[in-house]
Amino acid sequence: MDHEDFTSHYVSLASSDGLERAAAMLARDGLVTFDGVHDRRSVVDLASRLLTTWEHRDAGADGVTMIADRGSVADRLGYAGFGTRELHPHTDASALARPPRLVMLVCIQPAESGGESCVVDGAAVYADLAARAPGFLQRLRRPGTVRFGDPGYWGSVFEPTVDGRVTVRLRLDGLEHFTEPVDEAVPVLRAVISRYERDLPLRPGQGYVLDNWRMLHGRREFRGSRLMYRVLGDPVSAWVLPSGFVPGSLAVVGASTDAWDRP
Ligand SMILES: [Fe+2]
Repeated sequence: MDHEDFTSHYVSLASSDGLERAAAMLARDGLVTFDGVHDRRSVVDLASRLLTTWEHRDAGADGVTMIADRGSVADRLGYAGFGTRELHPHTDASALARPPRLVMLVCIQPAESGGESCVVDGAAVYADLAARAPGFLQRLRRPGTVRFGDPGYWGSVFEPTVDGRVTVRLRLDGLEHFTEPVDEAVPVLRAVISRYERDLPLRPGQGYVLDNWRMLHGRREFRGSRLMYRVLGDPVSAWVLPSGFVPGSLAVVGASTDAWDRP
């Protein structure tokens, strides 16, 4: 039986209106799940219908990156994806001034144990902080206070867009540099993120595409020969995908300002 989040965001991309529904779902929820993609050629075919593929350091000429355990490669900073450890929810290519809009991930072989994909809605994290810890949220919005990557990009965890929306950008893999006073807000941010982590275990042939400017993604630690194919890119030109999310569009159930914000 499929996981609840997989089912609730599932779109049959083979159906005649599949792409249209996927675009609407992405704009609404920042996440679409699909299935029926079992090999590299099918991944490339589907990717070409969804996005304009970006070149990436680790990708092949077809834009596909094989995410698998490559032993000691994962010990290098920025290469943790090629190990077996847990990956904290993050933004892909956060060191770029403009990260790719979409991340597509397809499961070719799940791990023996663990290795579940997980996602976090930046809109939910933002809404929670706005309700419970507005002071910390202000720090996380302050421009030029966080460096993502090295030499990387100086920005903020939450960044307002020109049209009044907000985007999220995060990495916590050792290649981030938080300046004061943002530094103090990071433990709070971590705690809120963990509250909104949703597991998305994928079976062979299943995958997701998510809005990299709204959703964070990660994975659990695992054992065994796990293989995923990843493609980064921007939506095909026919799709209108508004940037990030509308602040305040998600209500936080039972929220009350608590001790988060007190010194
Ligand atoms: Fe990633």
